[in-house]
Amino acid sequence: MEFRRKDLLGIAELEPGEILHILDTAASLKEISTRAIKKVPTLRGKTVVTMFYEPSTRTRMSFEIAAKRLSADTLNLTVAASSAVKGETLEDTAHNLEAMEPDILIIRHPASGAPHFLAKRLRCGVINAGDGIHEHPTQALLDLLTIREAKGRLSGLKVAIVGDILHSRVARSNIHALTKLGSRVTVAGPATLIPPYLETLGVEVTYSLEEAVRGADVIMMLRIQLERMGQMFFSTLREYSTYFGLGLRHLKLAKEDVIVMHPGPMNRGVEISPEVADGVHSVILQQVANGVAVRMALLYLMVGGEKE
Ligand code: CP
Repeated sequence: MEFRRKDLLGIAELEPGEILHILDTAASLKEISTRAIKKVPTLRGKTVVTMFYEPSTRTRMSFEIAAKRLSADTLNLTVAASSAVKGETLEDTAHNLEAMEPDILIIRHPASGAPHFLAKRLRCGVINAGDGIHEHPTQALLDLLTIREAKGRLSGLKVAIVGDILHSRVARSNIHALTKLGSRVTVAGPATLIPPYLETLGVEVTYSLEEAVRGADVIMMLRIQLERMGQMFFSTLREYSTYFGLGLRHLKLAKEDVIVMHPGPMNRGVEISPEVADGVHSVILQQVANGVAVRMALLYLMVGGEKE
């Protein structure tokens, strides 16, 4: 199986073989980041453009580091200092950037579907770095790589995804990925933060953190996305934390070798206690490291090698 797509827009449209091919490529490229000279010439002469219409630390930095480690030139559109603030549309901005002949454009945008909108209109490839509450495919891929490293497999696992499911593009991408690869996903959160259609995606739904983590191989905690909430979905953060904050006592209900994940940024003391976030079961910083490897793999496959 090869990866022959112009764009990476979501996990929903990927075949399991394509996902595994990206992970295998990432695993083979990971070693480059451990070298004294962390650079190979693979993408010399290629240009990678990032457009982040929402804040980002991990995704934006790791795309840039990934591109630089492969010797590509990188350009970041600083949206707040761009002509977007003068009213230029997303489509016009993208066409103008494309006129400068980048090889790939990476976009994060608050509107679900914005990367798909551009992918239909641009000749260059488009990677979705998170669109609204829809998908965050590169996050799911780095999560899969982290799970596979810890567990040695991606099938037959019980994965609990806990928190603000309603607003989480990370949850949606991971649900698609994990169910395609044969793992069982249980989601948990307050009823107000679990969309009614979720069971149609092939997951189990519970409103109890304890039930979700019982027997889990993997616990993935999600951030409460207050910035996407026009109304309150629970009474207070303290109440939320009481019922859905992961503490050391919850880990006793899970498998002995459970791993704890979080895509970041974390609200320490709200959805996850510092003791868990920094504890022996946490693989949160491994996720970040794997973000570089997965993004190197995607740039290599889409810009360098196997594109049609
Ligand atoms: N996980 C993630 O998308 O983090 P950033 O928002 O910092 O990119």
